[in-house]
Amino acid sequence: MKKILFVASEAVPFIKTGGLADVVGSLPKYLDKRYFDARVILPKYMCMREDIRNSLEYIGAFYIDYAGTRKYVGVLKKELDGVIFYFIDNEEYFGGPTPYGDWLYDIEKFIFFSQAALCALPFVDFRPDLIHCHDWQTGLVPVYLKDRFAGGEFFRGIKSVFTIHNLKFQGTWDVKTIKYFSGLSDYYFTPDKLEAFKDGNLLKGGLVYADAITTVSKTYANEIQNPFYGEGMDGLLRARKNDLRGIVNGIDYNEFNPETDKLIYNNYNSKNFRKEKIKNKRALQNDLGFPVDDRKFMLAIVSRLTDQKGLDLVEYMMDQICDENTQLVVLGTGDPRYENMFRHYAWKYPDRVSANIYYSEDMSHKMYAAADAFLMPSLFEPCGLSQLMSLRYGTLPIVRETGGLCDTVESYNEFESKGTGFSFANYNAHEMMDRINFARHIYYDKKREWNKMIDRAMAVDFSWKQSALEYQALYDWLIG
Ligand code: ADP
Ligand code: GLC
Repeated sequence: MKKILFVASEAVPFIKTGGLADVVGSLPKYLDKRYFDARVILPKYMCMREDIRNSLEYIGAFYIDYAGTRKYVGVLKKELDGVIFYFIDNEEYFGGPTPYGDWLYDIEKFIFFSQAALCALPFVDFRPDLIHCHDWQTGLVPVYLKDRFAGGEFFRGIKSVFTIHNLKFQGTWDVKTIKYFSGLSDYYFTPDKLEAFKDGNLLKGGLVYADAITTVSKTYANEIQNPFYGEGMDGLLRARKNDLRGIVNGIDYNEFNPETDKLIYNNYNSKNFRKEKIKNKRALQNDLGFPVDDRKFMLAIVSRLTDQKGLDLVEYMMDQICDENTQLVVLGTGDPRYENMFRHYAWKYPDRVSANIYYSEDMSHKMYAAADAFLMPSLFEPCGLSQLMSLRYGTLPIVRETGGLCDTVESYNEFESKGTGFSFANYNAHEMMDRINFARHIYYDKKREWNKMIDRAMAVDFSWKQSALEYQALYDWLIG
């Protein structure tokens, strides 16, 4: 039995701000339990749902020396779907209203978390063969495995994998500060190690010291070796390209299943969607105060509202997108510029635009089920899960050809009757608009073709089945 530990800052169903949580919460479940004992360690945030927080079982506590003082480390545990989740408790660090907040404080708390997570392993008596780290918050774990934790018997020989979910966020601050919190010596703060452009960089720790690097799609794995997508790390990633692979994300097909989903208005499947899916649209139209009209083209956006997601293209085209036959439903929070932009258009076109500026699992499922199409014109997209959820619910994605969107959405080809969505190549508002118009044309004038696309979209398989095998092969290769 090979033992794997996932270290991450979020995982469903405990805490989620984006796709990282979906991946960390679901992938361990789908690893083959006959060969892998995969566990997860997370911070115990006060902002987790109260019933979940109260259901955690207390194991014990110890203290570590951190940043000049003794810090409390509580350890809790919960088993879910056959996977053990451990939690690191420290109310000073994890007591805030959201998992992330102030940049500098986040750096301090996730360095603490990385150290505490490693120290907790002998305490809970789980010695992993491999630690799978996710994003900048856990970038120091591979470094510590080769540094201060390398000496003792317990940690010797533990392998590490570092997965890039988003290269944009790197956890950077001045060298002095990172050195202080990490407790790492001068040796580590050179441009070939943790220093990048004169700053200390936690993500770079993962990229330099992990035994293997992965990212969440093949296209993004190639893209980040170039300066445009590389966020300053492209040289390093080219140098490590033999240790870098892209493994496309899956989604939890049990949770995201229109046939059984309890959050949607009306269940349907790939056989009866022609009659049954539309009931979701009618119900949502009704709930949102829109005209209840089957002929309206309902376009959905469920997203963090940030530049990454291509929302400046959407902003530029809002008047054209929201024509008299279209209903745009937006769910998201983020940059006030985009929050206010969507609020403005909801005011301008109350029967065409619905701006839901909040976070809601419930509403997101209802939208995936109700909409006709899903818009995701990202500037960059390591994988993207929303388009996978849309495909599963027969809601056709309109995407830009970047990262995982390239690898998961096949562009409609009207001559060969192929494709599962609509895509455009350049980051250009007119190209995006052209695809939206084309999608509307197929929707209105070639309904049979549209429905055949839904057939194909609902038939593609982005469950974890295939990708879990790829992770297993990687673990096997590293552990030997
Ligand atoms: P990212 O991780 O970059 O935010 P992904 O597409 O990988 O993008 O994952 C986003 C996840 O977060 C999806 O599960 C999506 O449904 C969910 N999500 C984003 N915004 C919201 C929101 N406001 N309410 C509910 N779910 C949301
Ligand atoms: C990041 C990326 C997104 C990816 C998710 C999970 O948040 O922005 O594309 O799907 O991580 O890997």
